[in-house]
Amino acid sequence: MTSEYAVYAVDDLVIDLYTPTVSVRAIDGVSFHVHRGETVAVVGESGSGKTVLTLGPLGLLPEGVAIDLRGSAFADGRNLVDLSLNEISDVRGRFFGVIFQDPMSAMNPMLKIGPQLARQAERYAGLSSEEARKDAVSLLTRTGIPDPEDRYDSYPHELSGGMLQRAMIALALASRPRVLIADEPTTALDATVQAQILALIRDIQKEDGIAVVLITHDIGVVASVADRVMVLYAGQVAEEGTALDVLTAPIHPYTRGLLASVPDFRSETATGTREIPGLPPNQVKLEGGCRFADRCPLVLPSCRVHRPPLRTVKNGATPHRVACSVVIALEELPVHD
Ligand SMILES: Nc1ncnc2c1ncn2[C@@H]1O[C@H](COP(=O)(O)OP(=O)(O)OP(=O)(O)O)[C@@H](O)[C@H]1O
Ligand SMILES: [Mg+2]
Repeated sequence: MTSEYAVYAVDDLVIDLYTPTVSVRAIDGVSFHVHRGETVAVVGESGSGKTVLTLGPLGLLPEGVAIDLRGSAFADGRNLVDLSLNEISDVRGRFFGVIFQDPMSAMNPMLKIGPQLARQAERYAGLSSEEARKDAVSLLTRTGIPDPEDRYDSYPHELSGGMLQRAMIALALASRPRVLIADEPTTALDATVQAQILALIRDIQKEDGIAVVLITHDIGVVASVADRVMVLYAGQVAEEGTALDVLTAPIHPYTRGLLASVPDFRSETATGTREIPGLPPNQVKLEGGCRFADRCPLVLPSCRVHRPPLRTVKNGATPHRVACSVVIALEELPVHD
């Protein structure tokens, strides 16, 4: 279920990070829109910018890093880029639920789980303390935590990894968010629990019509959960489209390489390489041209000079966006700009 109305709209976002020793352009002109009831997966290798892109506008990057944002990230009628940290925190509390890879980074280890959920519901969903308590128990039930009445009074360290992940999802939902951001929510879990948590997120999204942004370095998990996929490479969008098109009719050599490196994922257009050779570029000193050039099997001299524009191209069922002029020309793909 999607509608034209984007609940979260990011346009031409540029994010520079500064530490005492380095300055990095972590995100360089990225746009993406998320609609109600839709799951968008953001995929890319470690360091491609998935976390900075999704958590940076929400003011959730670690301390010790100065961040400079340009462009726009509209949520709840406000451009997060223009807000103070206090204002961002308020929009985040009401509008976004965030699920992290490490549940302990979201939960207070000193407080029992139920009261943490209830406090969130009181503060942001406007419930009375009695309603908030009931709501917390029902969220624990809904996220599949056994004996929720008892678990209400458990401390985070008393739960197993999978259960704690469920409690964090409950916490993220307590404020009744419109957008759920899940940053590698299952990486630390074993395969069975991973599948259960992904199914839980998908069910919640379908039932509540929440928009979900799912960040993963594993393009293999995307097929079962995402409506759309955005592939990030070195802080830029390499390719973006419906999950079906990106997974079955990928265009960018990087996407094709990623899919070919998934053991049981067969794509007709995959290059056959099991792994993409080389490493992503150092974002501290980026030069002009395509950032994938050094690792690309199809690289031409012009790729090192001109940054390929993101174009709308048809290869699968619907047009999707891709930043590779070489494949478009070689395969004579129809452009719909
Ligand atoms: N705290 C930080 N200090 C300095 N640079 C950072 C910091 N966090 C991220 N970066 C830089 O920003 C860029 C994007 O990093 P980001 O953490 O968003 O990648 P990612 O795609 O989330 O990777 P991973 O899959 O490992 O989580 C990288 O070049 C990284 O080195
Ligand atoms: Mg990350």
